This record gives sequence, C-alpha cells and structure tokens, in this order.
Amino acid sequence: MELLSSKERVDTALKKVKVIPDSIRLKPEGEIVWVELDLPGEKANKFSSGVLLRLRQIIAELGKSTYKAAIFVSRKNNIFIAGADIEEIKGLKTAQEAEDACNIGQTIYNELENLQIPIIAAIHGACVGGGCEFVLACDYRICTNDPSTKIGLPEVNLGVIPGFGGTQRLPRVIGLQNSLDIILAGKTVPGAKALKSGLVDQCVPKEILEEIARKVAKEAIEKGKRQKRFKPQGFMNVLLENPLGNQVVFHQARKALLAQTKGNYPAPEKALEVVKKTYGMKLEKGLKIERQAFGEMAITDVSKNLINLFFMTEMVKKSTGVSGNVTPHKVEAVAVLGAGTMGGGIAQLAAEKEISVRLKDVNFEAIGKGLRAAQDIFSKALKRKKINSYEMKRKMALISGSTDYSGFKSEDVVIEAIVEDINVKRKVLAETASHCKEDVILASNTSSLSITEIGRDLPKPENFVGMHFFNPVHRMPLIEVIRGEKTNDEAAATIYALSKKLGKTPIVVKDGPGFLVNRLLMPYLNESVFILADGNSIEYIDKSLLKFGMPMGPLLLIDEIGIDVAVKVAKILGAGLGSRAEPSPLMSKVVDTKRFGKKNKKGFYKYDANGRSTGVDSTVYAELGLGSPKNNLNEEQLVHRALFPMINEAALCVEEKIVESPEMVDLGMIMGTGFPPFRGGLLRWADSLGAQKIVDELEIMVGKYGLRFKPSAPLRNRAKNNLKFYGK
Ligand SMILES: NC(=O)c1ccc[n+]([C@@H]2O[C@H](COP(=O)([O-])OP(=O)(O)OC[C@H]3O[C@@H](n4cnc5c(N)ncnc54)[C@H](O)[C@@H]3O)[C@@H](O)[C@H]2O)c1
Repeated sequence: MELLSSKERVDTALKKVKVIPDSIRLKPEGEIVWVELDLPGEKANKFSSGVLLRLRQIIAELGKSTYKAAIFVSRKNNIFIAGADIEEIKGLKTAQEAEDACNIGQTIYNELENLQIPIIAAIHGACVGGGCEFVLACDYRICTNDPSTKIGLPEVNLGVIPGFGGTQRLPRVIGLQNSLDIILAGKTVPGAKALKSGLVDQCVPKEILEEIARKVAKEAIEKGKRQKRFKPQGFMNVLLENPLGNQVVFHQARKALLAQTKGNYPAPEKALEVVKKTYGMKLEKGLKIERQAFGEMAITDVSKNLINLFFMTEMVKKSTGVSGNVTPHKVEAVAVLGAGTMGGGIAQLAAEKEISVRLKDVNFEAIGKGLRAAQDIFSKALKRKKINSYEMKRKMALISGSTDYSGFKSEDVVIEAIVEDINVKRKVLAETASHCKEDVILASNTSSLSITEIGRDLPKPENFVGMHFFNPVHRMPLIEVIRGEKTNDEAAATIYALSKKLGKTPIVVKDGPGFLVNRLLMPYLNESVFILADGNSIEYIDKSLLKFGMPMGPLLLIDEIGIDVAVKVAKILGAGLGSRAEPSPLMSKVVDTKRFGKKNKKGFYKYDANGRSTGVDSTVYAELGLGSPKNNLNEEQLVHRALFPMINEAALCVEEKIVESPEMVDLGMIMGTGFPPFRGGLLRWADSLGAQKIVDELEIMVGKYGLRFKPSAPLRNRAKNNLKFYGK
C-alpha cells in the first residue's frame, strides 16, 4: 500500500533537490511567453533533477500568469533537449528509487500538459529521450528540417525504457505501429520523418522556426488547447488500429524483436510488454505501469553495462588520446596510398566526412577499382535515402586519383594502405615523405607489422603513427591509433582527432604483435578451429557463440576474414607471443584444400553466386579427415574454451599497458569485434565470473588440451588476491 500519493512523493523528493535557476528562463512577448532552455556551463540541455525542479517552478508561474500561450525553445547549438541526466540514471540503486525518479518526471510533464494555455515546442536539434517525452506533453510541436534535428526515444540502448510517459504518449500521438518502431529500436527520426508520422505538426527551415512558432501560438490562442490523437489513415492503418489488428502488430513486433536481440536485451521486451498492457488505458494507470517497469529495468546488469559503455564513448569524445597538452594538426586534406579493399573504403569515408582525398595506387586500373568501391558505398546510402544524388556527386568529387605524388605537398595526413610487406611499406613511406611538407603526419593501416619497425628509417619517425581501420571501413566503428616507440604526442593526437572527425571511436594502443584487437581475437578464432578438430560441428560452435551474444559465429567470421589471411595472422602472432598463440594445424590444412572462405566461395560455409552464405559445407569434415562431429562439449564448456584464452591474453595486455585501462580493452572489443555490449565487454564479463573461476577452468583445460591455456601471471595474481579488473 502506498502511504503517500504520487504527488506527495514528488513534493517530498524535490525538497532534497537543488534547483538550477538559470537553466530555464521566461522571456515575455506580449500575450505570448518564450521559455528558453539554456543549462549553464553545458553544451546540451539535460533534464537533471535540478532542471526538472526549475521546470516545475516555471509551470507553476505559467499557471498563475496572464500569458495566453508559451513557446519552449532551446538556446543551445543544435540541441533541444538531450534527455534525462544519464549520470543520475547510473546512480539509481534500487527499483523503488528508479520508479520515484520517473514519478518526478511524469508528474511534472502531467502538470505541463494540464496547463490551461496552449504550449508549443519549437524544436531545433536533438530532442531525445526525456526531451521527446517532454514535447509529447506539449500541445503543438514544430521542428526544423536541419540534419541536427532528431526526435526519438533511445532509452532501450541504455537498457531502460522510456520512463517520463514515452510509452504512453507516443502511441497516442503517432499510433501503435509507428511508435513501436521508435521505442523498440531506440530510434530517433529526422524532421521530415517526424512530420510524416505525425510526431510533429510542422517541419520548417531553421531560419523561420521561431516565426512559425509565433504564428502557431497566435492561432492556438484562438483555437485553445488540444490533445492530439492518432487518426489512422489508409486501409492498412485502419485495419491495424483495432483490437485484432493490434494483436497482429504486437505479435509481429515481438517476433522481429527476438530475432534481433536473441533474448539478450530485456528492455525492449519490457517496453513492448508495457505498451501492450497499457495501450488504450487511462494515462494515470499507464504511467504507473511504465514507471514500475522502468524501475525493474534500471537495476539490471544489462542496463549498468550499457550505461558504462555510453560513458566510455563519452570519455573518448572528450579525450585527446594523449596525456600531454598538445594541439592536434588541422586536417583538411588527406592522401591514401593503395586503392584496394581498405584504401577505397578509407577514401570513401573521408569524402563522406567532407575531407578532400588523393587516392594513389600503382596504376589507373587499381585506382578505378578504389573509386568504384567508394561509389558503391555511396550508391547504397543513396538507395536508403541517407544522401541525395547531388550530395553523392559532390562527395565523390572530393576523391581524386593519381599514380604519382602530384599534390602531395598540400596533404596534412597520408594514410598508407598498400600490401602487407614491411620492406615495401618502408620504401614507399620514405618516398612519400620526400614529396610532402615537412610536418606531414604519416599513418599506416598495417594489421600485423610493427609501427616502430616500419617507421625506423623515416626522416621523422616521431610523425609516424599506426591507424588501424577494420574491414569494412564504412561499417566498423573502431580505429586503433598505434604509437611506435618514437611517435610523439602531436602525431598521435592528430590521428586520434582525425579518427573522431571520420566518425569513428579511436583507442590508443601500444605497438606490439596484433596490437589489441587482433591479439585478443586470434586466440579465440584459433581455438574455435581446435574445437572443430576435436569433434564439434561447425553449426554447434557458431550457434553456441551466437547465443552467447557474438554478432557472428567464429568459423563464419574466419570465412569472412579469409582463411588464408587468418592463417597468416595466426602465424605472425604465434611467432610474437609464443606457445599460447600456437596456430591450430587444422587451419593450415583448410587452406591446403584451397578453402579461402567467402572470397573464393569455399570455406567452412557454402556460398551462392552473390557471395551469401547458404549454410555449412558438410564436405569439410571428410575432406579434412575429421569424421562425423560428436559435439562432446556442452555449450558452456564450448564458450569458455573459446573465450577464456581471450581473457587470459587481455590480462597480459592490461599488465603490459597495451591500452591505458580495462575500459579501453572493453571498448576495443565491443567496437572492433562486436563483443556483446549487454555483457559490458570482455573484462566486465570476466569480472562477473571472477578471476578464480577462470583460472581454475584454464588449469583444467591445460590438462585436457595443452599449455596454450596456461593462466597468465597477471590473471593468477588477480585470482590469488581476489581482484577485479574494474576496482575491487
Ligand atoms: N583487408 C583487411 O581486412 C584489412 C584490415 C585492416 C588492415 N588491413 C591492412 O591494410 C593494408 C591494405 O590491405 P588491403 O586488404 O586493402 O589490400 P589490397 O590488396 O586490397 O590493396 C592493396 C593496394 O595497394 C596497392 N599498392 C601496392 N603497392 C603500392 C604502392 N607502392 N603505391 C601505391 N599503391 C600500392 C595495390 O595495387 C592495391 O590496390 C594492409 O597493410 C593490410 O594488412 C587490411
């Protein structure tokens, strides 16, 4: 039984909160009042408790005033409201605390909705989460068609559900189907799409937003308040907006959701459950169910992990990548050496981000291939309406091809992506340096060679950095920025800043075999082949790891990378890291049978003419003399056998300071290999198991499978002293 009413709980809770007085201010204009959102000292408006309290004061003032309409605007650049304060969500300890926090937001938004005067939201820039829920409680919504304007509910990406009324008001405004599209995928939509679904009433150029808002306010004074309700239009919508149609929508949404999350992400499932339970219900009752569900979600490990991931990426956004106080070089023009798989992708990415690129290769045929690859990526974006044909042409025009060094004097950075041969790379980079300005930064995309060794004889090895992209460049979010022994802070900071300008997440890595990601990925891929050799089927291995949450099974991934390439990298790492990286003999045997994977449509899997995998190639077993698989490990044994070598190696990477912190290992593995975000990353997962358990199991595996499982000294040490990677 609740002893206090929800309003009383809010009043009591807000007594402890310190108001942020300047976060929202009133600017009267005759019978209209502008309500300006402008959180001091921050780039974004965030609805922390202090701001919400201020909002409540403003609402009370509006209630008592003689104004006839109020228009909410942001005074920030390209941000309307970025949502609730995620630091506060992170700090929630119990479900009751989380529920109470929602109650505050819900109550204040209700008070806003219940004001007697019409409220207009004039939205420019990001309007997400609590921001979107705020505008849903307004009477009229007008937004700009600027690319920075994005409206939506990304809460499930943080492992929670909308808790300030989003699950209630969004379906009321845009209907069931459209709202589930946004809520379950944690999506935001641009202005034009928001207009199409009815989420906003008008979508206008930024320059006239306030003028239009004023006009709408004046009309609203005449027409009065309104409660916008979704009216289904068109045959399909009418069909779906009835109890039977609703059931079809819920059923389909759940099916699609589970296919995507594989049951690993509870928040979107909970959001669906809430919408299903409350659709058509009275607002007050629905809000209660919403906030209880939010409370349940906010304390899950998945939510904690996803919020930690959010803060890790925020850390990267604020960091320069170096400890010294240096200014990165300004990068306006870039050259790429090598127009192959990686070079073509890098050129496209640079052009996409408005950087002019010179693409150099040994002949025009190769350059043509690179340009075509870039064009193909843009064409796909055009098809998906991400860009228009004018933008595509303009961006493609930023890439120029060359077989010589003409124009290299004006390049700020040169990224080398030619053949993986240290002598060729050294020779080509030395030649390049002689054609560039003195302070040019040279970067190499090598995946396995030492940055220190490649840069050894360059005139300025201090200006040489590793810039390791992942394939396919336009999709993979990570870049490893590798410092050779002589790389200076300025060069590292320049490549770090350039990586961010390219829209990627950089992590700084010390030079060493496989850097970070390949060093950790290879033992896992290698062990998967050992597991196959020991009598487990390809399907079983890949399915077990998919179920664990990896985006793709390890054997399918080897096919994608190329089995020949995997063997090459495995051998290099074996040479650099010793017995624990000893390559599986079966891997070389696969290459001997001319199975290279996807690229020659023959690997562990079969492929159709378009290169799409059509299932396991069961002729592999006989061809490799494996006999029929017996699946002699249970799923947990299999997953641990494949992934514990990764943890073992990661413990060494932390010890050797290959990256600065466990956070960077986790960020690298999530962004570089798709390690399941809901697990928080490799080392957070390791912490959840405990070092002692991992060491014990590794010891058993040493006995069964060999010395490559020997627990590393830093891992043993953690077990012995009961230490976690993240604090105590
Ligand atoms: N493919 C991947 O998955 C991947 C991922 C990360 C890093 N890398 C690294 O990126 C680099 C390139 O790999 P790729 O897969 O794009 O190779 P690729 O074979 O597709 O392309 C290499 C290109 O370099 C050109 N080239 C060779 N010598 C040259 C020279 N002297 N000057 C200019 N161009 C020259 C070739 O003509 C070819 O077009 C390698 O160092 C590789 O290790 C590859």
